[in-house]
Amino acid sequence: MRIEFVPADAQAGANAALAVLAYEAAALSPEAKAVNEATGGALARAVAGGRFTGAKGQTLDLIAPAGLEAARVLLVGVDGQGAVEPETIEIAAGHAFQALKASGVTELVLKLGGDAETAARAAFGVKLAAYRFDKYRTTEKAEKKPSVGVVKIAAADPAKAQKAFAGLEAVADAVLFSRDLVSEPANVLYPEEFATRVKGLEKLGLEVEVLGEAEMAKLGMGSLLGVGQGSRRESQLVVIKWLGAADKSAQPVAFVGKGVTFDTGGISIKPADGMEDMKWDMGGAAAVAGVMHALAGRKAKVNAIGILGLVENMPDGNAQRPGDVVTSMSGQTIEVINTDAEGRLVLADALWYCQDRFKPKFMIDLATLTGAIIISLGHDLGGLFSNNDGLSEKLLAAGKAEREPLWRMPMPAAYEKQIESPIADMKNIGGRPAGSITAALFLQKFVNGLPWAHLDIASVAWKKPSTDPTVPDGAVGFGVRLLNRLVADAYEG
Ligand code: BES
Ligand code: MN
Ligand code: ZN
Repeated sequence: MRIEFVPADAQAGANAALAVLAYEAAALSPEAKAVNEATGGALARAVAGGRFTGAKGQTLDLIAPAGLEAARVLLVGVDGQGAVEPETIEIAAGHAFQALKASGVTELVLKLGGDAETAARAAFGVKLAAYRFDKYRTTEKAEKKPSVGVVKIAAADPAKAQKAFAGLEAVADAVLFSRDLVSEPANVLYPEEFATRVKGLEKLGLEVEVLGEAEMAKLGMGSLLGVGQGSRRESQLVVIKWLGAADKSAQPVAFVGKGVTFDTGGISIKPADGMEDMKWDMGGAAAVAGVMHALAGRKAKVNAIGILGLVENMPDGNAQRPGDVVTSMSGQTIEVINTDAEGRLVLADALWYCQDRFKPKFMIDLATLTGAIIISLGHDLGGLFSNNDGLSEKLLAAGKAEREPLWRMPMPAAYEKQIESPIADMKNIGGRPAGSITAALFLQKFVNGLPWAHLDIASVAWKKPSTDPTVPDGAVGFGVRLLNRLVADAYEG
């Protein structure tokens, strides 16, 4: 699908739908008023004859309007009095696309008002909304596929809007890259394939290093390697570097992602029902790869490190057993009580390696770590755990601004008792009470006192159903927008 910026007076042709806005109490926007006049008042009559109030997300579809060449007119509610925020326009554009994508029209013309920035945000909304993972559908009937092939966004100054879109487009491309990784099945996307795809990002100016099992063994990463031990696929540690700051030796920011390309649970095997969902247990690593893609794509003025711990957790004759004791790179030993609590074992070594080698300003890890975070927060919030209030505040603000909201969770030191082991320095599970918190307390033992935040995104990495028109059902790419915003607002320049 193509996105173009066109002059404000561009006409919608016979195979096109025209989308315009309505405010509170179904008040028509200037563009909607023009439609109403051209159609002899048809739009106002359609509103009067139904329950359309102009509320956010409401749409009203006028088919074959007399007096206009367009095949359809869509009225999209945005509420308010007419002063429209860029975010509101982004969402409205998403709604317009969702409402019309399979309507039969091949073209969509959005006349949503505003300046170059709002036009760019409309394009951003459309690009995110139009995501589809359909590469494995070979027999889908044409009439089930989206019909819209081009979206034209009206702007007072199309060239200026196109320019304003450049940075946003880089972010959208990164979100889509991340969604693709999450959507891929685990027979296709295993650790080496994941690493290969990330290697492909070198074309954006990123440096990508891949460590295999032999190198990790030399570094003493017994905790990460234990998880991948039962898999035919080789575990990988991927290091991504973006040096965009004026001073290439300035202290970097760092992101670390859990990349379990499939989580069977290992010997502590999961129930069959729903296990297929565990192909997206690499959502944290996909977010980290995505944010690095975004930073490089828009040439962010920052030094950043991304680290991906990539493993497959399988049961096997060589798999690790409950009760095994592993030694992590930090030297701390871990009694593996449950092989299904594997994400923290992967992150233990990835976090330690990150601080040891790069001495970053802070580390933020992202992980689909616990089912318990879904019980705590439902599917609208990701869990934030941190040893640093300033970093937490910035993350909460970035999440809010990008519609990837987080909720800060407590980390009471007293709960560390739950992960004490009688024979090792700690055990890898703390029982059912506060399961997400004891997981975070476990991770904290591997950050060596650095400012750190852990985002448990098991609740938000995958949405079915999604309530945001810019996020189609399935892979969200959660974390890419959030971390990109964090860097843009607080760590660039
Ligand atoms: N990948 C899972 C967490 C998960 C569960 C993500 C459901 C998304 C949906 C993780 O590796 C896991 O299995 N966690 C266990 C921990 C337990 C054994 C302490 C869990 O949450 O049940
Ligand atoms: Mn698990
Ligand atoms: Zn897992």
